[in-house]
Amino acid sequence: MAANQRASFMNDSNLKVLIDSDRLQARVRELGRQITEDYAGRELHLVGVLKGACVFMSDLMRAIDLPLTLDFIGISSYGASTTSSGEVRITKDLDVSLAHKDVLVVEDIIDTGLTLNYMVNIFRSREVNSLAIAALLDKPERHEIEIEARYLGFTIPNHFVVGYGLDVGEVYRNLPFIAVPENPDHLTRRDFSSTGE
Ligand code: IMP
Ligand code: MG
Repeated sequence: MAANQRASFMNDSNLKVLIDSDRLQARVRELGRQITEDYAGRELHLVGVLKGACVFMSDLMRAIDLPLTLDFIGISSYGASTTSSGEVRITKDLDVSLAHKDVLVVEDIIDTGLTLNYMVNIFRSREVNSLAIAALLDKPERHEIEIEARYLGFTIPNHFVVGYGLDVGEVYRNLPFIAVPENPDHLTRRDFSSTGE
């Protein structure tokens, strides 16, 4: 490799593209159109689940042709591992009250369903006008609790995926596509910190 070239992080051969950027963008626009129709004339309030939903949320809100407000909640169910511990923790609470709002929870992926189940139960007790879920991805084979997302991007097989907000060990969120890392448990910052020469 020439001295002024560096290995490409995004074109790493360890990453098998599952959903490319064009498909993601097209589907998010469709969801935006559907939400625009369904919530016309109502007080739409998006609640993004940090950090995984940040990319989906920022594209989705620009595809919704309605006045809306935003908030974020930080929930962690995984720690640094790639399997669910079943333990759900609030790392950042909401800034504004949900009372009397039409709340749409925006989540990156439904895996076991434990995170959304926990959140939906809390939100139901906060006098919302309505409550629905928009999830980019769903892995039905992994469900431990049945959770219904009114707006769903893609159903995927039981693979650990990264990109478009989803991470492994906090890395890979910035990929513009969804990929399956061939060996997620062995990905660490060190794997791509060298220039690869
Ligand atoms: P659940 O509580 O098991 O449904 O887990 C939901 C959370 O786990 C998601 O919001 C993600 O942050 C994380 N997660 C689940 N599956 C994956 C994956 O395949 N890649 C990256 N993060 C995942
Ligand atoms: Mg998440």
